[in-house]
Amino acid sequence: MEAVFGMALATIILTSMAAMAASEASPATFVFGDSLTEVGNNNYLQYSLAKSNFPWYGVDYEGGQATGRFTNGRTIGDLISAKLGIPSPPPYLSLSTNDDALLKGVNYASGGAGILNDTGLYFIERLSFDDQVQSFNKTREVIKAKIGSEAATKLLTEALYFIGIGSNDYVNNFLQPFLPDGQEYTHDDFVELLIGTLEQQLKLGARKMMFHGLGPLGCIPSQRVKSKKGQCLKKVNKWVLEFNSKVEKLIASLNRRLPKAKFSFADTYSDVLDLISNPTTYGFKVSNTSCCNVDTSIGGLCLPNSKICTNRKDYVFWDAFHPSDAANAVLADKLFLRLFSKPPAPAPTPSH
Ligand SMILES: *[C@@H]1O[C@H](CO)[C@@H](O)[C@H](O)[C@H]1NC(C)=O
Ligand SMILES: *[C@@H]1O[C@H](CO)[C@@H](O)[C@H](O)[C@H]1NC(C)=O
Ligand SMILES: *[C@@H]1O[C@H](CO)[C@@H](O)[C@H](O)[C@H]1NC(C)=O
Repeated sequence: MEAVFGMALATIILTSMAAMAASEASPATFVFGDSLTEVGNNNYLQYSLAKSNFPWYGVDYEGGQATGRFTNGRTIGDLISAKLGIPSPPPYLSLSTNDDALLKGVNYASGGAGILNDTGLYFIERLSFDDQVQSFNKTREVIKAKIGSEAATKLLTEALYFIGIGSNDYVNNFLQPFLPDGQEYTHDDFVELLIGTLEQQLKLGARKMMFHGLGPLGCIPSQRVKSKKGQCLKKVNKWVLEFNSKVEKLIASLNRRLPKAKFSFADTYSDVLDLISNPTTYGFKVSNTSCCNVDTSIGGLCLPNSKICTNRKDYVFWDAFHPSDAANAVLADKLFLRLFSKPPAPAPTPSH
């Protein structure tokens, strides 16, 4: 199944790149998600507590300054855009309502956001997935007004849509003992709620869409500290696998039901787990704690007064939640290889 979806995406991207070469205009790219893909929206939300626009964030980004990315350097999205030769789209909130830049693509991702509206509630402000879809709807109207309905439909049909959301519905909702969702729902019920909500949200009109599944959240430093000896939380990983499997099925079903939908599910769970389990294979030294010496009792972000490690390339995790720039580079390479290195095997010739 996975390989089939991977191939579907590879075909989509290759077709889009061919179209791009023909027209010399790259397809617009619309990105939705959370802190793993945010490029600076929350900087514009005055009261948001989910921000990373301070040192040491961005220390390895071009210019060495914090941008609102939740890592020391590039996100996986930045790296994939670079590989495709297209610019990483700007944060939605950095653009004016009538900005021409909207025609090239927008990043709506927001740290702390989840599929559910109440996920990340304690961050005060963040763009929930619902908010992001509504904002995209506004973008669509602006594009129509700018270039006319027909050209807008063409642009939006040829556009690439990348979505990565759901981690916070666990880390900043279901797994927080003081929030109601973890008490009121069993995991079976909670995952049904997530999938049902996601199904409504994915009908945003995208045609070429890739949904990036969740990584092994039980192994991120903020979860490991809850175990006795700093090991991965098996139960959390099991839940994530259930979520991923249900999203994969949902996407297959939407492909059958939505006209012309070419949705794919990018499953990188095993790649991330392999990197965490065998860091030395990839040139890393530490994967069970973060480069930034965060205080997980008050969150897990890398605060300006935190100590950071001397060799940032030795660490898989930058803070208690997010991979380092070096880890993102490995993961983006793997995601790319997964999509492009395996040409479809020719159908076996029947022997008789
Ligand atoms: C979130 O809130 C908006 C606005 O109140 C509402 O329209 C939407 O249905 C809600 N979505 C979810 C997932 O609860
Ligand atoms: C998008 O906006 C249009 C026009 O403003 C509205 O009719 C439609 O219901 C909106 N769709 C969603 C998904 O909010
Ligand atoms: C990480 O793993 C190393 C080597 O196995 C171990 O010495 C160290 O205590 C672990 N650190 C944490 C925070 O669990």
